[in-house]
Amino acid sequence: MSDLNSQELRIVGFLCNWCSYGGADTAGVARAKQPTDLRIIRVPCSGRVDPLFILKAFFNGADGVLVSGCHPRDCHYSSGNFYARRRLEVLKHFLPILGIDSKRFEYTWVSASEGQRWQEVVTKFTDQIHELGRAQTFAQVEAKAFDLPDLASRAQSVLPLNCGLLDPLDKLKAAIAERLADFDVVIGWQKGRDDVHVVPLFIHDQKDLDRLVFGPFNAQNLATYLTEYKGKKVGLLVKACDVRSVVELEQEELIDRSSVTLFTMPCGGTFDLGAVQDKLGRYETISSVEIKDTTVKVVVDGKDVVLDLAKEAQGKCLSCTCRLSNKSDVIVGAEKAQDLQPYDPNYVPRELAFVESLSLPERMSFWKWQLERCIRCGACRNSCPMC
Ligand code: FES
Repeated sequence: MSDLNSQELRIVGFLCNWCSYGGADTAGVARAKQPTDLRIIRVPCSGRVDPLFILKAFFNGADGVLVSGCHPRDCHYSSGNFYARRRLEVLKHFLPILGIDSKRFEYTWVSASEGQRWQEVVTKFTDQIHELGRAQTFAQVEAKAFDLPDLASRAQSVLPLNCGLLDPLDKLKAAIAERLADFDVVIGWQKGRDDVHVVPLFIHDQKDLDRLVFGPFNAQNLATYLTEYKGKKVGLLVKACDVRSVVELEQEELIDRSSVTLFTMPCGGTFDLGAVQDKLGRYETISSVEIKDTTVKVVVDGKDVVLDLAKEAQGKCLSCTCRLSNKSDVIVGAEKAQDLQPYDPNYVPRELAFVESLSLPERMSFWKWQLERCIRCGACRNSCPMC
């Protein structure tokens, strides 16, 4: 039994209806002694627990949050706890970035017959929260404006980003054309409303294939479409970083990897489309786009604007350690990858280093300041292939 002090803390427990709630019930029926700090919320499945529920609980005054579901492969909705495990593990690593001690959150698996295990889990977790004491709430911290690090200073960590641009797109198109008849669809990128906007392309014939592009504006991760084509033969164009999503989807058995063929070229890095938008401002037309090494000269409404990958690349590209994935099935232009210089393995994006330099309460103030701008459109969540 937990050695609880007299002060009761607020611990929120999200329990799946079929297993963990039954486990808690079994513990109750067996009259197992349990701490009284836990407030249980019954959910249909651990997969129903949106990380936002947990954040909301913390921001509204919970001192700890516990999520419990069926053991892996026992989920009554077959894969709900796999989704939960993935999200909750990420959330656990993410909590300190938000200013919340990760020891305040735990997830576990308890079946309906494991009353004793439930008693142990809840006692141990409650003891842990008592050791940490009360948590600060979001309302208690003040939104504080911080001086963000100078983004231009990132340039010193940048390596050549142009290898993908120099490779012949024609070779890639020929490689796809050769096998086009084998696929129900090949997913790639095409020019969007202008040359600096790229949108997904679903290739069924040679006419579609002619519209394929591969370059520094291909920021979207197309692996997000794979689950929609389960059971079909799909060709997918990927950058090296996108392959990680494919591996994850395969591990979670959300796709059949043998029916997916990955095509790739060495990636030279992609632009942060928000930074590009800021640089271009409001415009009517783009008349030309000229790519040279790590810069792109764009003629916008008759004026030249130079986009520099060293300054406007996505943060992940600046710390990328893999420009070409050897997990791809068809690799085009690989010889260029050997031209790449080695990376600094200790590189930490400046923005992340900045947040990590703050104390936990300061981080919460920082995010309160950032979140004041959020309009809850959900676009960030929809762009993740795992969610
Ligand atoms: Fe229990 Fe899905 S039904 S975790």
